[in-house]
Amino acid sequence: MLKVAVIGATGAVGQEFVVALNKHKWFELRQIAASERSAGKKYVDAIRDPNSGILRWHNREEVPEYVRNMIVSKVQDIKPENFDLIFTALESDDAQTIEPKFAKSTPVISTAAAFRYENDVPILIPGINDNHAELLNVQRKNRGWKGFIAPLPNCTTTGMAITLKPIQDKFGIEKVFMTSMQALSGAGRSPGVIALDIMDNVIPYIPKEEEKVQVETKKILGTMNAGTIKSTSFKVSCTCTRVPVLDGHTETVFVETKSATEAEDVKKEMLKFSKNVTIKGLPTAPKDYIIVHDDPTRPQPRIDREINDGMTTVVGRLRKDTAFDNGVKYVLLSHNEKMGSAKGAVLLAELLKDRNIL
Ligand SMILES: NC(=O)c1ccc[n+]([C@@H]2O[C@H](COP(=O)([O-])OP(=O)(O)OC[C@H]3O[C@@H](n4cnc5c(N)ncnc54)[C@H](OP(=O)(O)O)[C@@H]3O)[C@@H](O)[C@H]2O)c1
Repeated sequence: MLKVAVIGATGAVGQEFVVALNKHKWFELRQIAASERSAGKKYVDAIRDPNSGILRWHNREEVPEYVRNMIVSKVQDIKPENFDLIFTALESDDAQTIEPKFAKSTPVISTAAAFRYENDVPILIPGINDNHAELLNVQRKNRGWKGFIAPLPNCTTTGMAITLKPIQDKFGIEKVFMTSMQALSGAGRSPGVIALDIMDNVIPYIPKEEEKVQVETKKILGTMNAGTIKSTSFKVSCTCTRVPVLDGHTETVFVETKSATEAEDVKKEMLKFSKNVTIKGLPTAPKDYIIVHDDPTRPQPRIDREINDGMTTVVGRLRKDTAFDNGVKYVLLSHNEKMGSAKGAVLLAELLKDRNIL
C-alpha cells in the first residue's frame, strides 16, 4: 500500500477525497490537514460549521468511519518524506507556497490552478493525454525535486476536453464555443456561493474561469514533443455561469471541425474512444468513459451525475451545427467533484503508479 496524505481535507474537494480513498486497494490515507481553523479537531468536528453547528457535508455517502475520528493536522506538521504521495485540495494562493515544499521529496497531485500554466507542468486527464506525464520527469530534473506537482485541470475543462479528444483525433478542430452551467459545489466551501445570491437565479460570471478553460483545453489537447507541450492551434471561447445545481457541470459545446462530419459519425467516434480508453482496469476507472444519449432530454444533473459514481462524461443532444460549414453541437455533463477533481485525482494517481512514474 502507498502511504498518502490529503491537504485541504475538510473542503468540498477534500471531502470527496476521503470518500474516494475509503478502502482503496492501493492507497492508504494516513494523515489529513487543513487550515488552522480545523487543526487539532477530529475530522467529523472540523467539518461542522463553528457558528451554526451544521454538518457541512453533502456527499451521498456518510462521513466514512475510518476518517471520522482522525485528527486534522496543521500543514506545517506534515512531513512529506513520510508519504509516497500527497493529494492537495487547496485554494491556488495556498497551493503556490505549500505544494513546492512537499514536491521536493514527494509527488503531489493537485486540484489547484497554481502550477498548471508552467512549462514543465502537464495538466493531466487520465485517458486523454497520458503521454504528457513524461513531462513530470523533466520537471523533477529541472527543479531538482524527488517529487513533482501534477495538477488536474479546472473542473469545467475536464468534460469538454474528454469529449473534444475523439473529435480532434478523427475530424480535426477549427473552433470551439462553450457555455457552462456550473454547480454550486464547484465554488467550494470557503465561503462558497451564498444561498440568497443563487436561489432562483443564474450568475453570469465566475472569476478567472473562462481564461482557465480556454488555456487549459488547448494545453491538454496539445502535442508533446522534445520535453515540451505545444498547445493546439484551434480557438476556444466560452462563457461560464453558476446555476442552482448541487453537483455536476452542464456545458453546451459547439465545435467547428476541419473535415465534414455528421452527428452520427461523432457519436461513433466518442463511443469507440470510450471503449478503447487507456485507463481500463485501473481501480477507479469507470465502466463507461463517455456515454452518448439519444434521449433529447438528457443529460440532466439530477439523473446523470452519479452514473458510474460520477466518473462518466455524459453527452446528449448531439446534432449537426447549422452555423458552421462543418461541425456539431452537443450538451455534456461532468461531475465536478468526482471525475472533475478528487476522484479524478485518485484515478490519475493510479495511472501514474501503473506507469511507474509515482
Ligand atoms: N469544488 C470543486 O468542484 C473543484 C473542482 C476542481 C478543482 N477545484 C479546486 O480545488 C481546490 C479546493 O477547492 P474546494 O472547492 O475544495 O475549496 P474549499 O471547499 O474552500 O476547501 C479549501 C480547503 O483548504 C483548506 N485551507 C484553507 N486555507 C488553508 C491553509 N492556509 N493551509 C491549509 N489548508 C487550508 C480549508 O481548510 P478549513 O476547512 O480548515 O478552512 C479546506 O480544507 C481549489 O483550488 C479549487 O479551485 C475545486
